[in-house]
This record gives sequence, structure tokens and C-alpha cells, in this order.
Amino acid sequence: MPASTKSSLKIVDMSDETITQNTIAINSQHDDRRLLFVLERLVQHLHDFARETRLTTEEWEAGIQFLTQVGQKCTDLRQEFVLLSDILGFSVLVDSISHPKPKTATIGTLLGPFHTHDAQDHENGTSICSEDKGEPLLIEGRLTDTQGNPIEGATIDLWHCDKDGLYDTQYADREEADMRGIYHTKADGTFVVKATKPVPYPIPHDGPVGALLKRLNRHPYRPAHIHFIIEKEGYDRLITALYHKGDPYETSDAVFGVKSPLLFSLDKLGKKKAQKYNMNEDDWYLPWDFKIITDAESRELIVAKNTEALQKLGRDNFVLSEAGLPIAAPLD
Ligand SMILES: [Fe+2]
Repeated sequence: MPASTKSSLKIVDMSDETITQNTIAINSQHDDRRLLFVLERLVQHLHDFARETRLTTEEWEAGIQFLTQVGQKCTDLRQEFVLLSDILGFSVLVDSISHPKPKTATIGTLLGPFHTHDAQDHENGTSICSEDKGEPLLIEGRLTDTQGNPIEGATIDLWHCDKDGLYDTQYADREEADMRGIYHTKADGTFVVKATKPVPYPIPHDGPVGALLKRLNRHPYRPAHIHFIIEKEGYDRLITALYHKGDPYETSDAVFGVKSPLLFSLDKLGKKKAQKYNMNEDDWYLPWDFKIITDAESRELIVAKNTEALQKLGRDNFVLSEAGLPIAAPLD
């Protein structure tokens, strides 16, 4: 018996009315107050969902079967659960709750299922792409704090699809990272990437998530975009993406990632930059500045946003942890 188990705990009088409190009570025999709070709310909402929809056993079975198929579709390189979270709008919601940004900083968006941890370090000005992956694109960026001070030595991890709308992980013969790389910002906060023009692509839809989209009469496409993770010690990690303005799927992204401050337009590179970077003047050019916030700024914002959100939900007697997250009230 765990040390914190309450010997007085008794699960009795099981009914539709008592099952929720009974489940919460039996889950509460530990001292992790964040886990207590999260699980209490999860059980409450899950039970209310069944009560409200009058869920049938057949529907419950279909749901279990669907989630089983989602799990079975997952591999080291295929994350069907992330896809499911994405198409339900859950990923982008969690990112925005967990990493709120002031208007003065670059806004975040969902990570998506194609990030890997095997991208190589790249020198500024080198290319992340192997041969014949699409129309050449030069990205010139600058990373600063919200006051405009340059941030040196941050990592810029970026990845995008090739001209056929596929990530490297979608090729069966993949041997190493392609169309992805990690750059380091210089003293003035700048970085330079050679990539290719991204194109719209469908999310993998040959699995259970694709079948669900079809059932819902939804298309699986995402507008052309480039993913970024920007990290520097002392700063809140930024997960974001830039989206091509005017893309046919700009207003119907299958995974809800598009936010208007993240839309880019492309220019032609021009003669001067083409000479400087050994490219053609008709190649594409994307200049973009990113602004990130410190861990302290992030925590302050999380506390303010979480306080406001809980008050809006009518939870007047809430307790926030050191990190600013709601937790169960201490036991008397
Ligand atoms: Fe993507």
C-alpha cells in the first residue's frame, strides 16, 4: 500500500451520480498536486462527455477501436497520435496556452508530426537540401529580444517539405536528415539558410486519421510552410512556422496552424544577393525577423493568462504552482 494511501478510502454506492467522485477519490492517493488537478478535471470532463452525449456501448467500442488503430499506426517516424491531436485543433490550442506570447514577440504555432532529432548543424549560408528538391530559396533572418537586442548563439532548427510535398521521413530509403538543419545565430542575431520554396502538402492520410477526415468531408492539405524551433538558454523555446500568403489552403489548413502574423510573401533574390550567395537572381528570397521572450517574461505572462482564464471559468478558489500552473488545493 502506498504511504499516502488513505486507509479510510471506500468506494461504495456506485451509480451514475457517484462514479465521478469515486474515481477522483481513488486517483487522489498521492501528493502530486498538479497531477491531482489535471486528473480530476480529466475524469470530470470525460464522464460529463459520456453523460451529455448519452454515449452508447457501441460508440464507446468504436472509439476504443479507433484509438487502438491510431496507436498501431505509430512508428519511430510516424506519429499518428500527434496527427489526431493536430486535426482536432488540440495541438495548436495547447501550444498557445503553454507558450503565450506578448504582441511584441513572434507568435508560436503547432509543432506538427515531422520534427526529428537527427538534423545536422549547418554553417550560415549553406543549404539544408540535397539536389533537385525544389526551387531555391534564401532565408535571411535576425533573432532579437522584444526590445530589439540581437541574440547570439541561439539555435534555429528548421525543416520543410520538398517540391513533391514530402518530408524526408516519408521516404522509405531515408538514410539521413534532408530538408532540415540547425543554424546558430551570429553576434548580430542574424542567420542565413539556403532551402527550397515550400509547397502545400497533404498530411499523411493513409491511416485512421485520414479515414476520419474523409468521413468528415475534410481535405488533408496544409498550406506551404516552413517549421522553426528557436532555442537559447534563458529564453522561452519558440515553436513556430511561417506560411505562404495566398496559398490555396491558407484559410483551410487541416491542422489549424496558420496565424496571420506568420504569413510571408516571397520576393525574387535579385542580382546583389545572388552574387553574394552564389545563387540565381530569379531564385526566391524570404527575409524574416524573429523575436523571443525570456523565461522570466514567459512565466509572468503564464501567471497572468492562467489567472484570467481560471477566473473566466468561474474557479475563484484556485491555487497556482511556482510555474504558474493550476494545482489542487493543499489538504487541510
Ligand atoms: Fe509541416
